[in-house]
Amino acid sequence: MPLLTRRTLLTTSALAGGYAVGLGVAARFGVAAPIEPKILRAQKTEAKLSDAGTTQNVLTYGDAGMPPTLRMRKGEPFAARLVNALDEPTTIHWHGLRIVNGMDGVPFLTQPYVNAGESFDYTFTPPDGGTYWYHPHCNTLTQMGHGLTGLIIVEDPADPSFDGEVALNLRDWRLGKDGQFIAQYLPKNAGKSGTFGTVRTANWAGEPQYDAPAGGLVRLRICVTDVTRIYRLVVEGADATVIAIDGNPVPERFALGELLIGPGQRLDLAVRMPDGEGAIATLRDTRGTTQKAIATLRAVGASLKRDLRDLAPLAANPVPKADLSTAQRIPVSLSATAETVSVDSICGSLGYSFWAINKVPWPGDTPDPMAPLAEFKLGKSYILQVENLTPHVHPIHLHGMSFTVLSSSTRKVMPQVTDTYLINADEKVELAFVADNLGDWAFHCHIIEHQKTGMTAYVRVT
Ligand code: C2O
Ligand code: CU
Repeated sequence: MPLLTRRTLLTTSALAGGYAVGLGVAARFGVAAPIEPKILRAQKTEAKLSDAGTTQNVLTYGDAGMPPTLRMRKGEPFAARLVNALDEPTTIHWHGLRIVNGMDGVPFLTQPYVNAGESFDYTFTPPDGGTYWYHPHCNTLTQMGHGLTGLIIVEDPADPSFDGEVALNLRDWRLGKDGQFIAQYLPKNAGKSGTFGTVRTANWAGEPQYDAPAGGLVRLRICVTDVTRIYRLVVEGADATVIAIDGNPVPERFALGELLIGPGQRLDLAVRMPDGEGAIATLRDTRGTTQKAIATLRAVGASLKRDLRDLAPLAANPVPKADLSTAQRIPVSLSATAETVSVDSICGSLGYSFWAINKVPWPGDTPDPMAPLAEFKLGKSYILQVENLTPHVHPIHLHGMSFTVLSSSTRKVMPQVTDTYLINADEKVELAFVADNLGDWAFHCHIIEHQKTGMTAYVRVT
């Protein structure tokens, strides 16, 4: 069985490879002593997530509460030790960070399982500033669904300064009336837009409020870590402008309104707080039938009288620009499938197939299920022509490399640099990138039920 071969191969090669990667990073940045790793202990906890009382079997990194928001610095080495105190295998994927393949956290593809009781040292240097996040890549519907989603802020000293900063981890929980977990998904939803949570939170709270300087400029970092929900956000009671999407500065700032933000995506807003002490700005989700206030900011102190127009641009990230004159075009289709294959997938299967990439319900009944979706040559430019043939929206995520949105068949688009792009029903988009990162990289829908039922492939850079 190809999967077993591959798994065996990775387990043995990773033992030798782990040292090589560690040394490589140390040598490249001239680090004499290893940096003290941030300990991320994956374990069970309990939390008050709803009015129904304390929820048991919540998972987090650390002892209590939400996984810590990790602070890194652009271009400086970072180290974390995952300690697995769960009773099943896990890993950590650093969503959106363009780091070496061996640190990417995808079992079977980039590293072996970190089994219960084991630990794994991640060391890497984030090349880009911005808002990112981390999560397991094993049994993800359950592990992420139960709490293992945390934020990453990569500080860029070249960014303009703000008067305040608030980071929001947006996610739902599947809880029953007694406040305890219910089935994480229903198969009939996995074949549609996914199974939604019953309790909606920001930073594990119903509607948290944060103080911010009156008349000041606040950087609001929003990250959708939910496994299913797509948001349409607005700010009421204050002026706000979009300054970055998915960690990268937007080519042109714009006001919120129509923009959808899907699972895996991040949105950085500059909010100009109201002048009056005690005035409230509300972040609201206006998508669907159940609008919800997500969080509020309360103005405190005398007005700083700042002006959004004075805000200098964010520092750009060193993402290479694709050479469009030589770029090879790679057609990718997203479709539904009627086939049901029940096989182990790259990181755990739900036992159903509803979706396919290039007609393959991944990893599917092809002669060689583990062949990559596409192979790229290091340093060459490519354009993914992704066509969504389904009636649902899919947030498509590429590991290891960021791409630029070139065009859409249905709307005007900005040349946004991103790692996760929401592709509408019946839309065809062109995404350009330089294959500048060696290795096998996952490519999947970030609605986890879709990811787990056929919509996960991987690409190879050699
Ligand atoms: Cu956010 Cu493959 O992951
Ligand atoms: Cu999807």
